[in-house]
Formats: sequence, C-alpha cells, structure tokens
Amino acid sequence: MDSLIKFFFCLSLFLFISLIFGEINGVEGSNQNHHLYGFRPTKLFVFGDSYADTGNIRKSLSNSWKFPYGITFPGKPAGRFSDGRVATDFLAKFVGIKSPIPYFWKDYAGKKRLLHGMNFAYGGTGVFNTQVPLPNMTTQIDFFQKILTAGDIYSTSDLISSVALVSVAGNDYSTFIAQNRPASEFPGFIKQVVDQTEVNLRRLHALGVKKIAVPSLQPLGCLPGITVASSFQRCNESQNALVKLHNSLLQQAVAKLNNETKQSTFIILDLYNAFLTVFKNKGANPGSTTFQNPLKPCCVGVSSEYRCGSVDEKGVKKYVICDDPKSAFFWDRSHPTEAGWRSVYSVLRETLTSSLIKA
Ligand SMILES: *[C@@H]1O[C@H](CO)[C@@H](O)[C@H](O)[C@H]1NC(C)=O
Ligand SMILES: *[C@@H]1O[C@H](CO)[C@@H](O)[C@H](O)[C@H]1NC(C)=O
Ligand SMILES: *[C@@H]1O[C@H](CO)[C@@H](O)[C@H](O)[C@H]1NC(C)=O
Repeated sequence: MDSLIKFFFCLSLFLFISLIFGEINGVEGSNQNHHLYGFRPTKLFVFGDSYADTGNIRKSLSNSWKFPYGITFPGKPAGRFSDGRVATDFLAKFVGIKSPIPYFWKDYAGKKRLLHGMNFAYGGTGVFNTQVPLPNMTTQIDFFQKILTAGDIYSTSDLISSVALVSVAGNDYSTFIAQNRPASEFPGFIKQVVDQTEVNLRRLHALGVKKIAVPSLQPLGCLPGITVASSFQRCNESQNALVKLHNSLLQQAVAKLNNETKQSTFIILDLYNAFLTVFKNKGANPGSTTFQNPLKPCCVGVSSEYRCGSVDEKGVKKYVICDDPKSAFFWDRSHPTEAGWRSVYSVLRETLTSSLIKA
C-alpha cells in the first residue's frame, strides 16, 4: 500500500464541518429478520486502516479528502478511500444499522448518532506504527477504552449487542518493504503482525465486545500498485504466497481465541477468497459482466510519480478517471470502488449470515 503513504503530504484545506454532516451516515440499514437469531447487533465499533476509515484521517494528511474521492458517495470528497462507500458501510448495512460516526467527529454528532457505535479506523495505519503519524491499532483501542471508562456514551451492557470490525489491510507490510528490511525477515515479521493482532482481538473481547469480525488479508499481489507491472493482467503470486502465510497464522490465532473464549466470538471474513472470487467471476456471481478487467483501477496518475487525486503546483490534475466507476473493481492503486466493495460483501454474505447473526 505504498500509494497510501505517498498520498499523505499535501496542502491543507479548511475543515468544513457542516459539509460532511449528514454525509457520513453511509448506507441506511437493511434490517433482515435478525430477531430470528436471538442476537441483533445494535452497535458497530471499527478499528483499522483505509479499508474501514470513513473520515477520521485529517484533511491535510490525505487524498481521501480531495476530488475525485467520494464522487459516487456522498458526491464529494469526505474522507473515504474510494469513490464511495467502504467496508465499514457495507458491514453496517448488513447488520442493519447506520454506518458508525468517525471518532474524530464524535463531538459534533448528536447523541442518537453515537448509538450506532463508532469508527476508530485511520487510513495508512497498522497494528504497529507505520509511515504515517497516526494512531496504530493499540492507540485506537485505547480511545475506545477511554470512552467506555468515561461511561457517558456507552455502558458495558451496551456492548452485549455490539460487533467489532478489525481491519488490517497490509500497511505494516508496506512499511516493512519501505524500510528495506531483508526479505529473509519477512516470515518472522508476519508472525509478529499476527501475534499483535491477536493481542488486540483478545483485548476487544475482554472489553466486552460480543462478536468480532476479522477480515483475512486481501491478495496484496493483485492490487493495482503491483499489477501495473503486467499492465493489470496478472497478480504477483510471490506476494500472494506471503499473504497466505499471514492468513493461515491468522486462522490459527482466531481458532485459539475461540477455543479460549468457549464461544464463537471471532469470525474470519475471508476477504482473500472474496476478492479472488470476484476477479474470477468479473462480479459477485458466476457469469457476471460487471467488471470487464477487474484488476484495472478506475483512477490512475498520468505517470508513476502521480496518484489518483494528485495535482501539480498550478492545480492542474495529474490523473485520469474511468467513465464509469461502477464498472471498475478497484478505485485507485490499493482500494476497491464502492461497486467493488458491494460485490465483495455480496460474496461474504453467506458467512456473515451464518456466523455473525446466528451463533
Ligand atoms: C502504538 O503507538 C504508540 C504511540 O506511538 C506506541 O507507543 C506503541 O508502542 C505502538 N504500539 C505498537 C504495538 O506498536
Ligand atoms: C513480484 O513481487 C516481488 C516482490 O515485490 C518482485 O521481486 C517480483 O519481481 C514480482 N514478480 C513479478 C512477476 O512481477
Ligand atoms: C482448547 O482448549 C483446551 C483447554 O481449555 C485445550 O485442552 C485444547 O487442546 C484446546 N484445543 C485447541 C484446538 O486448541
């Protein structure tokens, strides 16, 4: 996710607080018979990075607040790393609640808005510190714990009907690569990342969160920043092999945690295979024609030194956008479009229904 990092140092814009209010709502709830299963989530707490961030990152630090981000939803840049809705919004929709308010905006939100939970995710972050000076996952959970301890927004009993999303999409690894650490250290580092993730998951459970959804790591070797080397034709299988190691260690960690807690508290959302399924089908289902070339991103810099959203010193744009973001799976070098996320959550629907809502 080197692209994330390079986005981050641009000129500051003013904060138009009023501008984003009403827009961070995300997708409206689509409450589907959850009462049948005895546990109906009413709150979603989110931790992680740009796959989940819905507006925490400051405007001065990120392209996600610049045109053309947000053109599909909410219609202008509002801090999401996509043309529109991201993983948090689709998971919220699935559980039937409004997308939770970003932590950064909590003081500007009405009490009612806070009842849907809170999003602590910051684009560019990891379980360890990355190349961005933003709260790592430990610090994000510290924020959550502080709010719980203060007790004026959420009480412990509120957490009985809560779900958490814990998104670790690879910034620890792009940081490792940027530091030019020897490749031989990679497997050991993967173990450290998963061990730290396990510490974080155990802590969220100890704080009282009832169900915790943990996406597997998506196939990093298929991200446009990598496949640009083959004109978006082929995934890099050696990178995907490292991702598979991460995912198998994660699977073991989650099995161990579920055994420890004697409940199926932790659920893996198999993002890795959901991405591959969508690539193969060119959409959510076999025979779809939604994404003609699923590896080709919608928004790209005009040359390798530019990114989606880049402008030169005169303000001239240095990127091109595809005609229809709905026909692209990827938005930029590392993030799916809203249509991409929709297809991924459509593939994940079965797991979500059987494990998140029942149980
Ligand atoms: C998270 O960030 C804090 C503040 O920078 C740092 O002290 C801490 O060591 C970091 N945690 C991990 C697990 O890297
Ligand atoms: C795949 O990625 C690795 C590591 O970044 C790189 O060394 C290798 O050349 C890439 N392979 C292909 C086929 O692009
Ligand atoms: C589950 O935990 C029990 C102890 O509580 C242990 O005996 C058993 O080996 C564990 N199983 C797995 C698969 O880790």
